[in-house]
Amino acid sequence: MMNAIFKRRSVRDFLPAPVEKEKIERILRAAFEAPSAHNRRPWEFLVVTGKEKKEAIAGMSPWAKMCPSAAAVIACCADLKKGDPGYETGGDPEDALWEQDLAASVENALLQITEEGLGGVWLGWYPGKARVNAFSEYFHLPAHIVPVALIALGYPAKESSPRDRYDPQKVHWESWEP
Ligand SMILES: Cc1cc2nc3c(=O)[nH]c(=O)nc-3n(C[C@H](O)[C@H](O)[C@H](O)COP(=O)(O)O)c2cc1C
Repeated sequence: MMNAIFKRRSVRDFLPAPVEKEKIERILRAAFEAPSAHNRRPWEFLVVTGKEKKEAIAGMSPWAKMCPSAAAVIACCADLKKGDPGYETGGDPEDALWEQDLAASVENALLQITEEGLGGVWLGWYPGKARVNAFSEYFHLPAHIVPVALIALGYPAKESSPRDRYDPQKVHWESWEP
């Protein structure tokens, strides 16, 4: 059975067509449904469709060159005031699980992108200092908001082929030794 998990592939080539706002909203709804440590849900999303802004983002990372051709770029950001107990309040920094929270929301969004017949690619942003700073400055993010990952998305220019990456050698039942 091919559900969205098995259909999803990174898509970096897009048709020059906009994506309907309702689709973007459903993608965001999926992101909001991700599991989150202590149910903190420390995510915030910045949706960018403007040509100039997408070009600026492409200039911030050598691995973000597809952004201008994407219909939209969604920046998935963490609110450290919500996601990091150690931020400002002196709580336990070992309980700062916002990177994992955000990763879960990014994957949820990518799966919904697949469901919508769209394609997208995950662009790792944090912890690259230069690209995080460039993005935060350009979009005037408050100090407690961290751009963790960006998603470039749009209508795919070509179909992706299915694959099977299951590797039983990487699965350890009960103990590490075979
Ligand atoms: C944390 C993370 C960061 C990534 N950063 C980038 C990136 O900056 N640019 C890019 O083109 N792809 C990026 N990718 C996508 C990977 O290259 C892609 O997932 C991988 O090659 C596997 O291909 P698939 O997504 O089609 O299964 C990233 C993926 C993850 C999970």
